[in-house]
Amino acid sequence: MLAVENLEVVYHSVVLVLEGVSLSVPDGRIVALLGPNGAGKTTTLRAITGLLDLHRGQVTKGSVTWCGHDITGLRPDRVVADGIAQVMEGRRILADLSVDENLRAGAYLRSRRQVSEGLARCYDSFPTLARLRRRQAGYLSGGEQQMLAIARALIAEPRLLLLDEPSLGLAPKAVAEVAELIRTINGRGVAILLVEQNAALALSLAHHGYVMENGRIAVEGSAETLAADDDIKEFYLGLGEAGAKRYTEVKLYRRRKRWLS
Ligand SMILES: Nc1ncnc2c1ncn2[C@@H]1O[C@H](COP(=O)(O)OP(=O)(O)O)[C@@H](O)[C@H]1O
Ligand SMILES: [Mg+2]
Repeated sequence: MLAVENLEVVYHSVVLVLEGVSLSVPDGRIVALLGPNGAGKTTTLRAITGLLDLHRGQVTKGSVTWCGHDITGLRPDRVVADGIAQVMEGRRILADLSVDENLRAGAYLRSRRQVSEGLARCYDSFPTLARLRRRQAGYLSGGEQQMLAIARALIAEPRLLLLDEPSLGLAPKAVAEVAELIRTINGRGVAILLVEQNAALALSLAHHGYVMENGRIAVEGSAETLAADDDIKEFYLGLGEAGAKRYTEVKLYRRRKRWLS
């Protein structure tokens, strides 16, 4: 349903950060996009949602197709109206505003009636937020803030939700709650592209996964395959015994392995 094909992205007209990235998110599925810091995960999301402009970035090759039509370079508000919503890295809630005001801010595209219906639906699905609706958002816990950011994105009733590192900086209990939330949202038929550095978490939720490295897709496969592959576990995902190995060592190891075989 979402197809990214051979995407190339350049920042400031000179810095090439994505080189031929292709991935797809089928209807109703959870797809994980993994990889170390700086690999290009956030850039890939920006290219999908039209936010590259804001960061002096540009798609120089390739395309983004959504439900059969080309949305490459479409304005962010049009992308949202088309059914793709994003929760950005770092949660980006408005700390000085109340929970209720934050949710209304996320619903800016729609008519007043749609907004109040959206809010009612939102409070139905998120009783915690209903209870905290007058609370200043900056005083919520990390987990509650992430819940708020996700709830705000859902008001637009997307068919695809892009999540950028939703577990980052959360306590283990909050991570588990966010994981449960992702499952619930997907259970209602919303497809999810989940960007995570926490590979174990992402692969426990996803159907399919991609691992990015230096602006390219290095490996892809079903979540089970990726989670079970020892090399991938150890050297890309940091799940193995040598999980703490530094990235440069990984590269050396792979080169050596190729040389020996
Ligand atoms: N606005 C920008 N201008 C120039 N370079 C950028 C910009 N944003 C990100 N980059 C660079 O692009 C690369 C990919 O970054 P990013 O997509 O944020 O990776 P990830 O989300 O996987 O950590 C990094 O080298 C980063 O420094
Ligand atoms: Mg990022």
